[in-house]
Amino acid sequence: MSAPVLRDLEWTDLETLAALEVALFADDAWSEPTWWAELAGRPRRDYVVAIDDGQVLGYGGIDVSGDVADLMTIATVPEAQGRGLGRRLLDELVRRAEGSGAEALLLEVRADNEAAKRLYGTNGFEVISVRRRYYQPGDIDALVMRKHIGGTHG
Ligand SMILES: CC(C)(COP(=O)(O)OP(=O)(O)OC[C@H]1O[C@@H](n2cnc3c(N)ncnc32)[C@H](O)[C@@H]1OP(=O)(O)O)[C@@H](O)C(=O)NCCC(=O)NCCS
Repeated sequence: MSAPVLRDLEWTDLETLAALEVALFADDAWSEPTWWAELAGRPRRDYVVAIDDGQVLGYGGIDVSGDVADLMTIATVPEAQGRGLGRRLLDELVRRAEGSGAEALLLEVRADNEAAKRLYGTNGFEVISVRRRYYQPGDIDALVMRKHIGGTHG
């Protein structure tokens, strides 16, 4: 398999992403109007998609506003998971956050999302707080994680 190419999100991707979201995020799926709003949020919002042979295999994005950037979302389609694409997307988003001048990248992750917690934990993110029962339905806690970037904090 050739390596997927990472490029900026385009409006022609939005219908595809909204369809993928349902399988990837279930109750938390973003609709197509939500994706349009995210795209309209540029340049503060900065999204990337991974394309292979014309197919979207993954995507992710950040919000950059001053010292702190936020990871808005990140996902790899089920058939491409476990091959390093999530890590590649995260590396690219960290690089873009650093380029914006941010000193930290924050994210929220469901406490029951083992794959995502492993991805973040092995990429230098640390849990800084817990939002109890943040995700509904299901009463699932949100872990707030932070990675220092772009400076000397390590
Ligand atoms: C989280 C997600 C983006 C990881 O994408 P991926 O392309 O499979 O990730 P990678 O192949 O780069 O693997 C990254 C790390 O996650 C770990 N991982 C991947 N799938 C895993 C699983 N099912 N269970 C446990 N760990 C897993 C890998 O072991 C790897 O860690 P390692 O390098 O230390 O071994 C992907 O599972 C996904 O899209 N999930 C659904 C959407 C989602 O939950 N997004 C995160 C929202 S906070």
